[in-house]
Amino acid sequence: MNSAIIKGTGYYVPENIVTNDDLSKLMDTNDEWIIERTGIKERRWINNDESTSSMALEASKKAIKDAGIDKHDIDFIVFATLSPDYYFPGPGVTLQKELGLNTIGALDVRNQCSGFIYALSVADQYIKTGMYNNILVVGSEYHSGGLDKTTRGRGVTVIFGDGAGAAIVSKSPNNDRGILSTHLHSQGEHAEELTLIGPSTRRWVPEIFDGKGKDDEAIYPYMNGTFVFKHAVTRFPEVINEALTKNKLQSTDIDLLIPHQANLRISQFVQKKMGLSENQVFSNIQKYGNTTAASIPIALAEAKLEGKVKKGDLICLAAFGSGFTWASALIRW
Ligand code: COA
Repeated sequence: MNSAIIKGTGYYVPENIVTNDDLSKLMDTNDEWIIERTGIKERRWINNDESTSSMALEASKKAIKDAGIDKHDIDFIVFATLSPDYYFPGPGVTLQKELGLNTIGALDVRNQCSGFIYALSVADQYIKTGMYNNILVVGSEYHSGGLDKTTRGRGVTVIFGDGAGAAIVSKSPNNDRGILSTHLHSQGEHAEELTLIGPSTRRWVPEIFDGKGKDDEAIYPYMNGTFVFKHAVTRFPEVINEALTKNKLQSTDIDLLIPHQANLRISQFVQKKMGLSENQVFSNIQKYGNTTAASIPIALAEAKLEGKVKKGDLICLAAFGSGFTWASALIRW
């Protein structure tokens, strides 16, 4: 069977930096609270005509360059996002057009914070079965346009940032490298603990606006923060251990854990629980906040640029988020 390697990575974040102090001018919050509870110092928020697909385009171009392939060598796109340009169609097709690719397939993945690992698992299977040779896997999120920037929304709004990350997943004849395994989970009974209700088919636009005006909370993301936190700190170690057990490895074998950047406190908890050192857990939430499906590919691309991902290293990706969904991937780089 073929092996699927990550041949190239790239990321893009908007230029506009929004600090915690900037947020305190919009709502009743402060730098100290945000840093203490989340570790976030600043995030990027689009302030021009950029979009989920335009950020994905920039990240994809970098990943293609990094992989050293021609864009026409890509034979499939998997695009993970919770913030698509349109309700439909998903942004995979827009990316196909903007990249100027032939009429290759484009699949959209709706798994929020776990979206990139779900997307990677799809790519991994298509490569391993021999269906495709080079797959562009993207995670991109434009959160800032849809957040409640008043004090009412502060528990959610301070956490999220915009950005995109991409990876080229390619066929390799070398079986001792590549994606070793991926592990996917969901628990839909908690779907409404972290959600954006409207507009949707359960809450159409007229229902939201009719007689209530723009202030209906249903148009903003809702998060039961404490509940999400408690589940996250259980599921992260569980799904990392599942991947290790499957591959007969131990946490001491991990060279770098790249967790979804949900909250620095969650990452620190996972680090301790897994018996890892601070250096073994990548973190960039300080700069970008939580970019949902984009957070892992941005972190992976940055870690690579910083020389923290080297050939032969054992890299573990893990995520937890809305759905609830959670996932992990082990990669021999
Ligand atoms: N600034 C200042 N005060 C804030 C605030 C903000 N941005 N957001 C909430 N508060 C206040 C609350 O109103 C509350 O005040 P009260 O005690 O007077 O009622 C107090 O701070 C504590 O709120 P609480 O929600 O209990 O804080 P917390 O310690 O649980 O931290 C989160 C909140 C969101 C940071 C935390 O729950 C969390 O990180 N959860 C997981 C989120 C996550 O990972 N989501 C993405 C999943 S992929």
